[in-house]
Amino acid sequence: MKLAWPVEIAGTGASVPDKVLTNEDLAKRIDTSDEWIVQRTGIRERRIAEPGQSTLTFCTAASRQALERAGMTPEEIDLIIVATITPEHTLPATACELQAALGCRWVPAFDTLSACSGYVWAMITAAQYINSGMANTALVVGGETLTTITDWDDRSTCILFGDGAGAAILRRSTDGQSGMLAARMGADGARGLHIYIPAGGSKEPACLRTVNEKLHYMRMQGREVYKFAVSTMRSILSETADDAGVSLDDVALVVPHQSNARIIESATQKAGVPPERVLMNIDRYGNTSAASVGIGLHEAYEEGRIKGGDLVMLVAFGAGLTWGSLLLRI
Ligand code: UT7
Repeated sequence: MKLAWPVEIAGTGASVPDKVLTNEDLAKRIDTSDEWIVQRTGIRERRIAEPGQSTLTFCTAASRQALERAGMTPEEIDLIIVATITPEHTLPATACELQAALGCRWVPAFDTLSACSGYVWAMITAAQYINSGMANTALVVGGETLTTITDWDDRSTCILFGDGAGAAILRRSTDGQSGMLAARMGADGARGLHIYIPAGGSKEPACLRTVNEKLHYMRMQGREVYKFAVSTMRSILSETADDAGVSLDDVALVVPHQSNARIIESATQKAGVPPERVLMNIDRYGNTSAASVGIGLHEAYEEGRIKGGDLVMLVAFGAGLTWGSLLLRI
């Protein structure tokens, strides 16, 4: 959908745990190898939370950095949206806990559960509040502690995930040129069980049996998700550029969800985007679900890969199944 929303990114932040878990470390615990993991996923290591660290730890640190980069105080934030599948608690929303941790005013604060699409969906949602006049500023955070829902005996999933958070401050555009040009969002609930957690919800409440049977860990049909991911990412890249009336050649950087290097390479290659215009950091962080696009966007700013006036495309897909894209002029 074509948009003309005068909403800009005022600052970004990211936070990941210090503790590194390498492929070699994993190979000591399960039947896998560095070679297999690198070849099939592009992941070399990931960051994992240590005791005492949780989703709020990373969300708070990333938000503070985003506020600092924006030159803003917590009191200036009008809205907080946290995208996460690993909330601090099941109740209340992590966004409310973040509001208190940062010392924000009593502004609306809520979570979205759209998995790896979460950061992109939260950006689009927050921007609508600003575009409609309901807010002047918003804090958007994607934060996860995926290692808490990882089955460390399942070699087909435990090699993939890492922890961390990415944050952005949105505000009404101040320069008259930056804004949100196009976005796409979608979901196919019929394929919901391709990635899911069997227990811990109302259908299968937590009990001794569900814990013993490891039903609180993420389960994934990897090959099905892989096929969906490549075709969806490829098509929404082109469709979103078309919506805005620009060519993908004009996009300075694509910041994709870091799910698997092969998925990203295949989708962007098919869409005609050369690798030097695609952000890739999965080798260092693995898949951090809702955090990954936010961490990538922050790195792009910090490393000077994008500058004022550039077109930047965010694109993601994940459990739901869900997908989303957002084309920005920064
Ligand atoms: O964030 C959004 C959601 N997630 C994704 O985007 C993930 C999408 N899927 C994928 O990235 C890939 O499907 C995986 C990386 C999860 C798996 O890669 P694959 O190339 O699809 O492997 P596979 O599941 O088809 O398994 C191939 C073989 C199997 O052995 P057999 O049956 O051929 O003998 C697996 O048992 O590789 C084996 N295998 C492993 N071998 C060594 C699976 N995991 C491992 C492992 N180490 N860690």
